[in-house]
Amino acid sequence: MSKTKIAVLVSGGGTNLQALIDAQQGGILKNGEIVLVISNNSGAYALTRAENAGIATCVISKKELGCAEAFEEKLLATLKEQGIELIVLAGFMVILSQRVTDAYPERIINVHPSLIPSFCGEGFYGLRVHEAALGYGVKVTGATVHFVNEIPDGGRIIMQKAVEIREGDTPEVLQRRVMEEAEWKILPLAVEQVAAEIKEKKE
Ligand code: GAR
Repeated sequence: MSKTKIAVLVSGGGTNLQALIDAQQGGILKNGEIVLVISNNSGAYALTRAENAGIATCVISKKELGCAEAFEEKLLATLKEQGIELIVLAGFMVILSQRVTDAYPERIINVHPSLIPSFCGEGFYGLRVHEAALGYGVKVTGATVHFVNEIPDGGRIIMQKAVEIREGDTPEVLQRRVMEEAEWKILPLAVEQVAAEIKEKKE
């Protein structure tokens, strides 16, 4: 049976996308294939990473389309056109409405840079998550890979990994450690796990 067709949605630097590309090239991601990278931001370096790996890219801009509804309409049409079976949000900074999450139940995965249910939900993204963790004074943080439903960061958890906070950590230093020790490791593993489950259901 053919591999699960994956689209990765990005907004920025794309280090998590890079971890997925490396996993695909290194044989860790074997039951799924990244066939498309979609960005809401034409300046995202993640697009260059995809191009360098020979993966098709597409920019869907909310600004150009005028509103969230038009953005989601175009997104859904693109995903359908390409026969996408699994969507991975890898540093994608747009919250998707129930219209999109209902169209792909347990078929959208997100990576979040904390141990959910801490420091998550609306307003918690990127560096802000690490600022909040340091501000609260927790001694352990980490990353979570979860399914996406209509509640921001509220879907079923697939994988988590803890990361220790050290004396003197800045948000930037902590962000890097959480990426290196957790995100880049568990995201490829979780994507492979779900891609394999989807492939198995087709057989
Ligand atoms: C990552 O830390 C990711 O977990 C986070 O943004 C960063 C994107 O980095 N995502 C969120 O905060 C989503 N709520 P990347 O573009 O280098 O992968």
